[in-house]
Amino acid sequence: MSDKRSIGVGVVSLGWMGRLHTRAYRALKEKFPEIEADIRLVSCCDVMEENRRQATEVLGFRRAVSDYHELINDPQVDVVDICSPNFLHHEIAMAAIEAGKPFWIEKPMGISAEQSADIAQGAEAKGLITSVGFNYRHVPAVQYARRLIAEGKLGRITNARVWLIADYASDPNGPLTWRYEKGRAGAGVVLDLMGHGEDLVQYLLRDRITEVTALTDTFIDQRPKPLKAGVGHSGWVVSDELGPVENEDYCAVIARFAGGAVATMESSRVSVGPRSEYVVEVYGTEGSIRWNFEDLNHVEVCLGRSNGALQGYVRAMAGPDHPDFARFQPGAGTSMGFDDMKVIEAAKFVSGVLADEQYGPSAADGWSAAEIDDAVVASAADGAWHQVRAVSGRTTFDK
Ligand SMILES: NC(=O)c1ccc[n+]([C@@H]2O[C@H](COP(=O)([O-])OP(=O)(O)OC[C@H]3O[C@@H](n4cnc5c(N)ncnc54)[C@H](O)[C@@H]3O)[C@@H](O)[C@H]2O)c1
Repeated sequence: MSDKRSIGVGVVSLGWMGRLHTRAYRALKEKFPEIEADIRLVSCCDVMEENRRQATEVLGFRRAVSDYHELINDPQVDVVDICSPNFLHHEIAMAAIEAGKPFWIEKPMGISAEQSADIAQGAEAKGLITSVGFNYRHVPAVQYARRLIAEGKLGRITNARVWLIADYASDPNGPLTWRYEKGRAGAGVVLDLMGHGEDLVQYLLRDRITEVTALTDTFIDQRPKPLKAGVGHSGWVVSDELGPVENEDYCAVIARFAGGAVATMESSRVSVGPRSEYVVEVYGTEGSIRWNFEDLNHVEVCLGRSNGALQGYVRAMAGPDHPDFARFQPGAGTSMGFDDMKVIEAAKFVSGVLADEQYGPSAADGWSAAEIDDAVVASAADGAWHQVRAVSGRTTFDK
């Protein structure tokens, strides 16, 4: 790295996540002033000319290129940010590792456990600080719930319920984007949404899923081919020609943890009703907590069973008493949003790079989720319980 207090950033792919990561870096100076580093948006890479133009003219990158190798080999790029469609993650991450550059990569880290193992072990061998886009960890209400669990306020943890039910693919006339192709996405909702839930529940319990059984299904098996790409799930223009959906819309999983707890987990991308209902509930012998992303500033908590007629949940709203909240909203009753989680993720990544410490979700955590994903897909194929391979390296979900 050129100068420890000056970090040159290179962002690969300027879609939904690339734009969000860019905004997160830009917000660091104001929201995390204690990070005394000059964060420079050096280079952006995208194959779409319009995105390259926006990168320099609107978002403030010094240059924009169409080949990620050029970005990674740019001597002014100190850290690499990977926000491409899933199938490119492995080759770009391996190139960043080869160049010895720390990287922040979106989930899923690879399209298979094998790819994710490669990335995590490669980063570990070079001692690189990494970050994986498991943003739901950073929500103040989630941090608070994790603390209650660690302090034993819920007693012995017995079970968790996790569901990530979304409607982004519920319209059969929605575009056949890269997300529905095995070659460019890998699995479907298992990688796209369930991976978040797997990481979140492991993070809350500080425990590892060791065994799963699962089923998956596809409810919309054809979609119109796109004529023009959009950003994320929006802005696509479709043709009249249909193409096949190659991966699953739905999955249901039963899981066991190393410490003895169990979980049910479910995910859908085609529900009509819930928009992004990402819920985690954790139950213990003395209490329970519930958190829902659609209402991310609240956490429901029930501690003990001696409240008589008032037994039930307290619905607490995150405010300046909760970690990091006041950086974004100085008063209770106002809400943090999705973008703010990415600012916290960027802060953990950048401060980790400066201190040479792994603070945020690591490549080893990405690999851990990938091993669960692979076991889920294998179980859905043969109907059997599958062991989840343990990973090595600097996991943070268990710290
Ligand atoms: N953490 C989260 O909550 C979250 C949310 C959405 C997406 N994601 C992840 O982020 C990643 C990107 O998803 P998205 O929704 O931003 O995608 P997107 O479709 O909005 O953007 C993808 C971008 O990649 C560009 N691209 C394609 N081929 C390229 C190449 N060879 N070199 C450089 N750029 C190329 C496209 O032009 C496009 O701009 C995925 O892995 C996805 O799973 C994570």
